[in-house]
Amino acid sequence: MADAPLHADPAAASRDRGGPLQPLLIVRGLTKHFPIRSGLMGRRTGVVQAVDDLSFDVMKGEVLGVVGESGCGKSTMARLLMQILKADRHELIFDGDPLGHTGITTAELRRQMQMVFQDSHASLNPRMTIADCIGFARRMRGEPRNMVAAKVDDLLERVGLTPAQYRHRYPHELSGGQRQRVNIARALALEPRLLILDEAVSALDKSIEAQILNLLNSLKAELKLTYVFISHDLNVVEYISDRMMVMYLGRIVEIGPVDQVYGDPKHPYTRALLASKPSHDPRKRTLVPPITGDPPNPINPPSGCRFRTRCEFAEGVCGQMAPTLKPLDNGDHSVACLMQQPGSGHSRAPI
Ligand SMILES: Nc1ncnc2c1ncn2[C@@H]1O[C@H](COP(=O)(O)OP(=O)(O)OP(=O)(O)O)[C@@H](O)[C@H]1O
Ligand code: SF4
Ligand SMILES: [Mg+2]
Repeated sequence: MADAPLHADPAAASRDRGGPLQPLLIVRGLTKHFPIRSGLMGRRTGVVQAVDDLSFDVMKGEVLGVVGESGCGKSTMARLLMQILKADRHELIFDGDPLGHTGITTAELRRQMQMVFQDSHASLNPRMTIADCIGFARRMRGEPRNMVAAKVDDLLERVGLTPAQYRHRYPHELSGGQRQRVNIARALALEPRLLILDEAVSALDKSIEAQILNLLNSLKAELKLTYVFISHDLNVVEYISDRMMVMYLGRIVEIGPVDQVYGDPKHPYTRALLASKPSHDPRKRTLVPPITGDPPNPINPPSGCRFRTRCEFAEGVCGQMAPTLKPLDNGDHSVACLMQQPGSGHSRAPI
């Protein structure tokens, strides 16, 4: 997947538009390094390599789950895709249109892609009614009040909140689950095609979490949406996703269909991560020890493979060569590990 060619000619990209096989979003080389400054003069003393050269596609109508330990760059990636944060480097193509002068504008991309964060009291303006929160973006675009009100009622219905009962309430009058329904309605107000959900169900009780996941599933079918679903909860990602992407220290280490990545993980980090996943079935409990030690500092990541300081298979070559994401035989499942790359020099690599 990482090696798929980028459309060199924007016109060609546009001609490809529309088909279900055209990825909704193509991401190439997405990079963000935060400078670290210290001292009175604010001298630059290092960089946090938060997101480093990510390349992946988001297919139409899919749920792409994103997992990885805290600090691996999931939220930074989401903010870069949303254009809330400026990338050092990236190429984005949305349904065939490259971001830039010749294709889709930043404003239009922001309309087509919306984000839902973890529920918190800060996520909704406490002084605005629910109806105003949901309708705000449409009002800002100059839409007449009565049209916005009708749209708000439709969205409230869709997210399971009776309009007459909820439209005049304030955020503090709602439960966490109801507030998250409002956040989802607000994200849908401008009729986006892609939702980026960053820990969107993480703050909820398990029973409410299940209701919101069901709601997301039915909204996706009704409105033909595509999701990028970021979560630290591997069980939730397995439940909701079609494909999943595993990140480690700012890079993708594995990506592929959920059943393949969960059923036959190829990267030692993915295996360790999945081994630490709680299972309710004692027969499925694994004897593989969960991953040990803290991830290294992203200010100074290890040379070569970033996972080598925690990898039981690390060899000398792993410090000299950074493995790139390469498709396995079937093409859908890609992994960045020298053990999977023929001729890499790793003793376990295929000849
Ligand atoms: N504005 C910033 N300035 C400097 N460093 C930053 C900034 N934002 C994020 N980082 C760093 O970038 C790295 C990635 O952070 P990010 O929040 O994207 O991780 P995450 O995978 O979303 O973690 P979590 O699971 O805890 O939400 C971290 O080391 C973080 O400290
Ligand atoms: S490239 Fe080497 S260190 Fe990295 S995951 Fe593979 S075997 Fe481990
Ligand atoms: Mg985060």
